[in-house]
Amino acid sequence: MTVEIRRLDAAGVRAALDGLAGVLADCVAGGASVSFMAPFSHEQAREVFEGYAGEVEHGRRVLLAAVDDGRVVGTVQVLLALPPNQPHRAEIAKLLVHRAARKRGIARQLMERAEVEARAEGKTLLVLDTVTGDDAERLYERLGYMKVGVIPGYALYPDGRPCDTTVFFKNL
Ligand SMILES: CC(C)(COP(=O)(O)OP(=O)(O)OC[C@H]1O[C@@H](n2cnc3c(N)ncnc32)[C@H](O)[C@@H]1OP(=O)(O)O)[C@@H](O)C(=O)NCCC(=O)NCCS
Repeated sequence: MTVEIRRLDAAGVRAALDGLAGVLADCVAGGASVSFMAPFSHEQAREVFEGYAGEVEHGRRVLLAAVDDGRVVGTVQVLLALPPNQPHRAEIAKLLVHRAARKRGIARQLMERAEVEARAEGKTLLVLDTVTGDDAERLYERLGYMKVGVIPGYALYPDGRPCDTTVFFKNL
């Protein structure tokens, strides 16, 4: 069965909280540096997505879910709420695919749809950052993102080790 990419409204995010939280908790358990430190519970992940639902409700971000046979297996967000002098810019955040669903092109599908949604919101410049040397960095390069540079020691892995971050942009 093919994976469907859905744009969720706030009610949709709340209805899918367990699936979305499951993906985030799995990524953190797998060692992904995506804002959160270990140990990170399913309940904590639910609270994080409850917060995102409020942001979606106020039009401050777009949240997409990849749904495979009724189950959420991936997600990505487009952050729209930037300062008034950057109305054309958005940020990509929290591209997450469950470990059990990786290497099937789901992240690529999420990113392609994120770009469509960003354009529909009037955005022409996307910015993102990612851990230097991780799988996502290759993905962004393949999708045509331009590498700005590397910030050493920008963030931590969930186990506390420091990691470098690469900043990218793409003109839509
Ligand atoms: C980064 C991440 C989102 C990629 O998700 P994914 O769905 O596996 O990504 P894709 O399937 O589109 O691409 C991953 C690889 O699978 C390959 N692939 C895609 N479809 C494939 C298929 N049908 N068969 C075999 N390989 C395939 C891609 O070519 C790519 O290869 P590479 O690793 O050599 O570059 C995922 O690893 C993840 O969630 N990581 C943890 C969170 C994270 O770091 N997020 C980024 C934060 S900015």
